[in-house]
Amino acid sequence: MRLAVLVSGSGTNLQAVLDAGDAPLEVVVVGADRDGTRGVERAQEHGIPTFVCRVPDHDTRADWDAALARLVAAHDPDLVVSAGFMKVLGPAFLEAFRVVNTHPALLPSFPGAHGVRDALAHGVKVTGCTCHWVDAGVDTGPIIDQRAVRVEDGDDAASLHERIKEQERGMLVDVLTRLAQDRSWR
Ligand code: GAR
Repeated sequence: MRLAVLVSGSGTNLQAVLDAGDAPLEVVVVGADRDGTRGVERAQEHGIPTFVCRVPDHDTRADWDAALARLVAAHDPDLVVSAGFMKVLGPAFLEAFRVVNTHPALLPSFPGAHGVRDALAHGVKVTGCTCHWVDAGVDTGPIIDQRAVRVEDGDDAASLHERIKEQERGMLVDVLTRLAQDRSWR
């Protein structure tokens, strides 16, 4: 299955997909919404084409969304993976592609950009990660899979996020492998 992966940061989820040697997954392009991400660097280390498409370089958010869609379409992916991509995708993009997102909380609890911090602040004892189809809302699309992670005494957002990401990487590779094997979603 040909994957376009969108990143905004360190790209450890991307790395898990790149390292999933036995899985029928091929990352054909990696895109970021900002310069200098480790995620783009990881792709370059694997010889995978990359691009950066920044909102401030476009007149309107719709222009950015359409430009992002064109950059991705040039690589003809079967599926787009939002793996730590910290931008909401717009209508032009979502009309063109099926998109899966990974989120560091048990949706529908704690959507948005601060899922780990918000869960910790609420005092939950169990949180985790969610893989879901992307729709027009923020982290609202149909859930594909989830993994639970206990909050430990003394956790801060960084320690909790690290343990969530350990689960998240396995979940993402499992979900993508299943989607590659059963294409009824297309
Ligand atoms: C992941 O935990 C992902 O769920 C989160 O950013 C991290 C990216 O890590 N995404 C969001 O919070 C989106 N709302 P990575 O760059 O190391 O893969």
